[in-house]
Amino acid sequence: MVTCYDYLTAKIIGQSNMDAVLVGDSAAMVMHGFPTTVNADLEMMKLHVAAVSRGLPGKVIIADLPFLAHTKGKKYLMEGVDALMKAGANAIKIEGADASLAAIQYLIQADVPVMGHLGLTPQSVNKLGGFKVRGRNNEQKTKLLEDSRKLEDAGVFALVLEMIPSPLAAEITEVLDIPTIGIGAGNSTSGQVLVLQDLLGMNPGFNPKFIRHYMEGAELIRGALNAYDAEVKCREFPSEKESF
Ligand code: KIV
Repeated sequence: MVTCYDYLTAKIIGQSNMDAVLVGDSAAMVMHGFPTTVNADLEMMKLHVAAVSRGLPGKVIIADLPFLAHTKGKKYLMEGVDALMKAGANAIKIEGADASLAAIQYLIQADVPVMGHLGLTPQSVNKLGGFKVRGRNNEQKTKLLEDSRKLEDAGVFALVLEMIPSPLAAEITEVLDIPTIGIGAGNSTSGQVLVLQDLLGMNPGFNPKFIRHYMEGAELIRGALNAYDAEVKCREFPSEKESF
């Protein structure tokens, strides 16, 4: 699974072997330059989901429920989820298993497919004190195991595990019947997710341990821009072939 936020990239992903796409609230950081995902809201998510779904018919699209959307009452929740699904999402991802559990249960009872998300839950970054590995001590480990079971019992169809030690991710994957999708959680999870721009090397200064660059996108784009610049300045572009 990979994140996607826009139409043209969605078209490329549609021609790839990716199984599913996450329109993550990481859009707030990657697309809009905010420092955390706290700045994503329903309007932002809806626009990105609609753009992705126009480029990606036929693949599973999962959309993040943005920060605090589960705390604003059932009407707000249902109208928000309704809007995300009408924009093209097939399922909704919701972080946590405490304050968000009632919303998760309510949506699942209403036949909305929900994906869980535990470990480093970025919407809680201010409470957690930063983007740090979770589940390193016994208390956090026990809670993560309990929360995973709680979410499976609630009926989530899959669970994202973010930035937790590999052995813990392996244990959670082993005890659950639903698939786990890891990001910074080792290679024993059922699947993996990465932010697209991270795997494409678009943000070379951002290098957490769990990212692998599958190309050096920033370098390639810079190279293309400089080639364009040079060819314009020596009047090699546009050529006759590119002129009317
Ligand atoms: O918003 C996002 O991109 C995510 C992934 C990092 C799992 O939640």
